[in-house]
Amino acid sequence: MHAEWTIGIVGLGVMGRNLALNFRDRGVRIVAFDPDTNARARAQAEGIALAASIAELLDRLPAPRVLLLSVPAGPTVDALLDSLLPGLAPEDVVLDGGNSHWRDTARRAERLFKRGIAFVGLGVSGGEEGARSGPSLMVGAAQRAWLHIGPLLEAIAARAEDGTPCCAQLGPPPAGHFVKTVHNGIEYALMQLLAEAFDLARRAFALDQEEIADLFESWRGGFLDGFLLSAAVRVLRTLDAETGRPLLGLVRDVAEHKGTGSWTAREALERGVSAPTLLAAVDARFLSAACDLRRELSALVPRPTHRLHAPPEALGPAVLTAAIAAFAQGFALMRTVFAAEGWAYSPPAIARTWRAGCILRGRLLEPILRALSRDPALSSLLLDEELCALAFSGLEDLRAVVRDGTTSGVPVPALAASLSYLDGLSSARLPADLIQAMRDLFGGHGFARIDRPGRFHDDWRGRPAGAVA
Ligand code: 6PG
Repeated sequence: MHAEWTIGIVGLGVMGRNLALNFRDRGVRIVAFDPDTNARARAQAEGIALAASIAELLDRLPAPRVLLLSVPAGPTVDALLDSLLPGLAPEDVVLDGGNSHWRDTARRAERLFKRGIAFVGLGVSGGEEGARSGPSLMVGAAQRAWLHIGPLLEAIAARAEDGTPCCAQLGPPPAGHFVKTVHNGIEYALMQLLAEAFDLARRAFALDQEEIADLFESWRGGFLDGFLLSAAVRVLRTLDAETGRPLLGLVRDVAEHKGTGSWTAREALERGVSAPTLLAAVDARFLSAACDLRRELSALVPRPTHRLHAPPEALGPAVLTAAIAAFAQGFALMRTVFAAEGWAYSPPAIARTWRAGCILRGRLLEPILRALSRDPALSSLLLDEELCALAFSGLEDLRAVVRDGTTSGVPVPALAASLSYLDGLSSARLPADLIQAMRDLFGGHGFARIDRPGRFHDDWRGRPAGAVA
């Protein structure tokens, strides 16, 4: 059906090779190149047509060429573009399928645009399995390029239950990678929330691993159901082939990271958007890396004797409430950045691309999509009646498990951050008045009053009771 389509792929690592096989299965002709001999041998064994060089690859592609780069983000992309550019022609389309920083994508798109070449920032989610059988594709592209490549990408994308491809043009070139970055920021948060629930279950509620797996499994069918919950259950139930012990217990407790979670956190800080759960999840990975210090202090600091307030069953609603807070933060960040960059913002399209194929896929996307479809201009997911009710229905459970974390000495940074976020957003008055007053006292920064318009300054030296200034 798509016999007329041909795509060139540079980079046959795990993602590139699986995307190539996915394209091939959809009837798209593939020509691929990778300088690495092992990668080439493996691809050849799977029947992927190979070019011997970049020049040959470009030669074998019909005009206008469509070329997908599946290489590590960073300088490799620039180096590759340097070697490709002399052979490219106006109207060609180059897609970057890596986890590139959106600012790099903006710069590269501008560079290629000057030569009449379209550059597409393609956020790809779903890992190896997704790439092979249907990833979620967050596309940043100019309209003309999108019209050209849209059908090609839709052909390989995951499909939501209603059959819609999880692939959409979400804005100009940098927007695709920006949305993928925020996806990852939320991914970090959801993973951290599940990890904290696991830690509370293990250390505060003294459940064994099998019981924790059962507890997590009992959340299936509810709004926590999704890829990450299944992944956690699978991990909890896996035994080490050699020792027969739970494999998880043998895994070193240092969480690694490749950058996208920190980029999301940094973006929130730079844009002044409150995203405490996303920040806490990144910080928790950093803290986990201080393993020598942790071991040393754990021998010195006595564990608190705790009194539990919540039953383990409170963990599910608590995690759900915290997860909604994390999504609310991610969407608030995207709303701000899209507006600041002048990109047209369609949050329902983003939620639709996350319904299948990606790491965030799960039932929670259903009410989120309903909320954003009802009102795409929603300033916070929490203002939607359905989501607000869902988020706040677990608030007391969240409060109880955070209390149990603190009294039992089990760190719950992301759960606590979500709780503070929800408490903060539902406080008509916050102590920012004291902060403003102190800023004015020592810096003369001025303050706004609630009883009259304008900007005010005071020497804050106190006045006799009853005196009116
Ligand atoms: C995906 C994932 C994938 C990966 C990231 C984050 O959507 O398929 O987000 O891109 O998980 O690289 O990985 P780190 O945890 O190593 O930062």
